[in-house]
Amino acid sequence: MEIVDLLITNASQVCVIPGPDGPQRGPQLGDLGLIANGGIAVADGKIVAVGDTAVLTSHYYAPQVINAHGRAVTPGFVDPHTHIPWLGDRAAEFEQRIAGATYMEIMAAGGGIMSTVRATRQASVADLVADNLPRLARMLQHGATSAETKTGYGLETAAELRQLDAIAALRQAQPIELTPTFLPAHAIPAEYHGRTEAYVQLVIDEMLPAGAAWAKEHKTPLFCDVFCEQGVFDVDQTRRILTTAAALGYRLKVHADEFVGLGGTKLAVELGAISADHLVKTPVEDIAALGAGDTIAVGLPGTPFGLAERDYTPAQAILQAGGALALATDCNPGTCWCESMQMVIALACRYMKLTQAQALVAATLNAAHAIGRGQEIGSLEPGKQADILILDTADYRQLGYRFGTNLVQTVIKKGVVVAGNR
Ligand code: NIG
Ligand code: FE
Repeated sequence: MEIVDLLITNASQVCVIPGPDGPQRGPQLGDLGLIANGGIAVADGKIVAVGDTAVLTSHYYAPQVINAHGRAVTPGFVDPHTHIPWLGDRAAEFEQRIAGATYMEIMAAGGGIMSTVRATRQASVADLVADNLPRLARMLQHGATSAETKTGYGLETAAELRQLDAIAALRQAQPIELTPTFLPAHAIPAEYHGRTEAYVQLVIDEMLPAGAAWAKEHKTPLFCDVFCEQGVFDVDQTRRILTTAAALGYRLKVHADEFVGLGGTKLAVELGAISADHLVKTPVEDIAALGAGDTIAVGLPGTPFGLAERDYTPAQAILQAGGALALATDCNPGTCWCESMQMVIALACRYMKLTQAQALVAATLNAAHAIGRGQEIGSLEPGKQADILILDTADYRQLGYRFGTNLVQTVIKKGVVVAGNR
């Protein structure tokens, strides 16, 4: 008998989600590696073994046993695209949008991202931490065990660095592992109105080096992201920002094709970005590029839903092209204040026509690869971190099918129960 720290036994289904060679690409998406009456052995925060409960309990003993009888078990959700941390809300803009104003019209009139920037610029690191901790707690209760978090509401060097400091503090203060992304090119701040080029130059000359110095000081790798969009940063500006960032050691991400397909996805693939995100209005040649490259397509179906728009990420075309698809919330106060990966899965099933199994892999294994952590998290394979969800249902297919109810009963992070267990 080998002694481990924790045994989970008798799960109706264990969704292992095998991915030994990377993300599940193209038509392969949706392999859950289901084990009936399954169990998991955990030691030192990692998965030691996964398999049939009877076989597992004949090899392993643990002082802590969780009987998951009648419950499905999955990896913790990985949310690879959020805009946490921010301050304030935009409920009044939502009211305007219901009355017919578009997101880009509100932004062009000085609202939108700039209204959150005004609130966030005034905030101290302590304010940002206090306001965003409960948000992360709700995400954890809904099953997110890792998340990417971005700057982009500072848009001036000091305020962008305060957002990074807040992310670093939030990392220490709660269980969700946070992967930081630097996004000074999220919008053109009001004081640069009509001078986009001057702002791009500020990003390149001052902000990116400042973020790189922060990354070095905090021994934390940083991603760099750009909002490549009509009326925001065009493809050429995005290219200049991202190539500078790559030279400074950042790994790359792009907000592409959210409203207009400009070529941002093709650029992401060309520059070897780890992900291209949104991809609603993606041109066919950019979809083909995703199939040929390693850049992961991150679908954010909460965003068109949040904006009450009709078009969603063309997941089926991306899969047919051989692309790797992940899902994320895009959690932000403008387009999509959604803290639940379960809601995202429900939307992806309906509007991106993913099966529950495909959506689950996109929200775990593939999402982990979209933040460069596919070797450590995102599946229940031995050797990986023990980030595990026990569901309130025997059949994982209730994820996606049901919505609006939290189906996560217990959240385990690095082998420790951190939420739920009602
Ligand atoms: O991903 N499109 C750019 N950024 C966000 C929205 C941010 C905001 O409106 O505050 C997005 O949709
Ligand atoms: Fe976003």
